[in-house]
Amino acid sequence: MSNASVQQAANEQTETAGESRFVRACLRCPVDRTPVWFLRQAGRYMPEYMAVRKHHTLLEICRTPEIAAEVTITAAERLGVDAAIIFADLLLPLTPMGLDFEFVAGEGPVVHTPIRSLEAVQALRTDRADELKYVSHAIEKVAKHFAAPRSDGDTLGIIGFCGAPWTLAAYMIEGGKQSGGDRNYIETKKLMYSSSAAWNLLMEKIVTVLVAYAEQQVEAGADVIQVFDSWVGKLSVGDYQQYCLSWTTELVQRIKAMGVPVIYFGVETASLLPAMSETGADVIGLDWRVPLDVGWRSVGAGCAVQGNLDPIALFAPKDVLKAKVREVLDAAAGRPGHIFNLGHGIVPGTPVDNVIRVVEWVKELSSSISLKTAKQAGLLKELNAR
Ligand code: CP3
Repeated sequence: MSNASVQQAANEQTETAGESRFVRACLRCPVDRTPVWFLRQAGRYMPEYMAVRKHHTLLEICRTPEIAAEVTITAAERLGVDAAIIFADLLLPLTPMGLDFEFVAGEGPVVHTPIRSLEAVQALRTDRADELKYVSHAIEKVAKHFAAPRSDGDTLGIIGFCGAPWTLAAYMIEGGKQSGGDRNYIETKKLMYSSSAAWNLLMEKIVTVLVAYAEQQVEAGADVIQVFDSWVGKLSVGDYQQYCLSWTTELVQRIKAMGVPVIYFGVETASLLPAMSETGADVIGLDWRVPLDVGWRSVGAGCAVQGNLDPIALFAPKDVLKAKVREVLDAAAGRPGHIFNLGHGIVPGTPVDNVIRVVEWVKELSSSISLKTAKQAGLLKELNAR
């Protein structure tokens, strides 16, 4: 088979799903190369974002569709990635549920009156999800901006997102600043263990609001929804299965029923991956601690995977960084259903140039892997035809 006919065979295969490269990879369809984007790609490491932050608070950016859209678009275009995640925050749904919070410099989010009782859960509102529509208005603007195919003929994917029930509950109960990745979640687990009435009602209310919120985002043009379960790694497998799995599954399934793939991401999840894949999410986001091929085996071949370069590797010299990018791609081995990403968000201080170089290397290195895979597939097809 000549290179031209191999490329043609690859193109024919990739046309089957009729979607962007990023969405096709979420659905485990073959792609011409590995799609790439980054967790926290619009953030404080980027001078363009800091220029906007000089004039606006984080919540002002989130709640002003023009600015949120601009920040989203600028980051995606500057980096040359295949998907844009809408600029918003996990905590936004707390406000229409009746919980006030603020971002305190150096501390992260702080919830003023954390939930500690059944009565407090009962007081939470689920009927005001419409107040979150500023996020879907921003998505509409981003979708309009990226509607036309790029120079390579591929359309950029647009990602909406929300928190998972456990992680949102942890913020609501701990109060925010105590609920970082280094904490024990004592208040959250106390409520979870001691009052099934309060816990189940809280989970149910969170799912109700998040389903409505995700639906607004899909209607506005989100191609994929990512569910962030950032602190799920603080749960044992047994507790995850007993207290969280059914609620997360309900959320994932109700979003999938809207006709979009779901990416489900958590941190410190090596032991939880088989249980997380039981949610039926199309893609599982792997954190950076687990080798990608090991993680993929854990979630099973029926799932796509996203990840999982260590975000701190972006501080390494270029040759070391490139070797690490190659390591992730080699572990994926060109199998359909890999989306290149980090294993957690980009941190402040990350050199922007290194992030851009990673995008270039993923494009360059994965094109040759895809061509090899297509060649093998073509040869197999020929052999089978004989
Ligand atoms: O490009 C993007 O990904 C930006 C959009 C985005 C933000 N928050 C904006 C933001 C996304 C996807 C999030 C999700 C989010 N928010 C998560 C899940 C992702 C993860 O990292 O696990 C979580 C846990 C939150 C809650 C949150 N928001 C925390 C803990 C903090 C403080 C941490 C810090 O880095 O200071 C935030 C603030 C926040 N949200 C920032 C950004 C860009 C940085 C603060 C700022 O600009 O002032």
